[in-house]
Amino acid sequence: MNDFSLSNVDIAKDLEEFLAVYQSKPFEAGNGGMTSSHMYASWVMLRHIDPEYIIECGIWRGLGTWLIETACPNAKIISLDPNLSKRKFVSDKVTYHYADFSEYDWSGLDVDNTVVFFDDHQDALTRLMQCKWLGFKHVIFEDNYRVGDGDFSSLEHIKAAKLDFADAEICRNYSKFSEKVKRKLKRYAIKFGLRKDKSVIPQFKRNHEQLFIHDNEFLNRNLESFCEFPPIFAANGKEGILSEDRQADYPEFFKESSDYNFISYLKIK
Ligand SMILES: C[S@@+](CC[C@H](N)C(=O)[O-])C[C@H]1O[C@@H](n2cnc3c(N)ncnc32)[C@H](O)[C@@H]1O
Repeated sequence: MNDFSLSNVDIAKDLEEFLAVYQSKPFEAGNGGMTSSHMYASWVMLRHIDPEYIIECGIWRGLGTWLIETACPNAKIISLDPNLSKRKFVSDKVTYHYADFSEYDWSGLDVDNTVVFFDDHQDALTRLMQCKWLGFKHVIFEDNYRVGDGDFSSLEHIKAAKLDFADAEICRNYSKFSEKVKRKLKRYAIKFGLRKDKSVIPQFKRNHEQLFIHDNEFLNRNLESFCEFPPIFAANGKEGILSEDRQADYPEFFKESSDYNFISYLKIK
């Protein structure tokens, strides 16, 4: 098992191989699941890390499960979601549970050889604290929303706290979400028949607590490494692995770059 760190040049090398794999997905990606660029990032990261165990937190229709299984066919996968009824892809090699990640006794698992893959839209800092407490070291967050975006507190919100406390606080507190984000959340809630008040999905308590001004400091103190997977095409001011003149070669990736949420690997100390 390896820590994740690859240069942009190395990351770009697997693009064609990925696209062939992506063609064989069991169903079309739709709303609520990973986009193709996030699937590419997950696929590259997981193949490189090559863990023995993967805990997938947040299944939805199961496209992520399929991708994880395809990237690491020898890994033992444990997939968690409080709502297992939406799955379209179900693997008999995967162990499914519906309780929360924090409610299991993981003590039989080799935590040093496990990646916890979070796409459950829960408070990222709470998840990291739980991982630290349970002994997990390798963590992927499927969404690292920028300040002012997202339906949960992401790492980026926490990291921004030191720089701009007021903005980060807005992301912690629904009542202060921008109207644009509120409308987006409401649309999701209606669409998925979920809570219409605050969140897309059941959230952890800490999501609604005020930001703690030292969160960012504690985060840095507890991380050995933090690696944000680069977008395929430049997004949100971040350089892409491909230059703009390749747009026509990869239209789907390019289309996604205007609404890209970033995906991150972290190693906890
Ligand atoms: C964005 S979707 C996951 C998409 C999936 N990774 C894919 O690409 O197809 C979020 C999922 O998190 C689930 N979820 C909500 N609360 C959760 C929790 N506490 N633990 C695990 N999953 C949770 C929701 O039911 C939903 O299915």
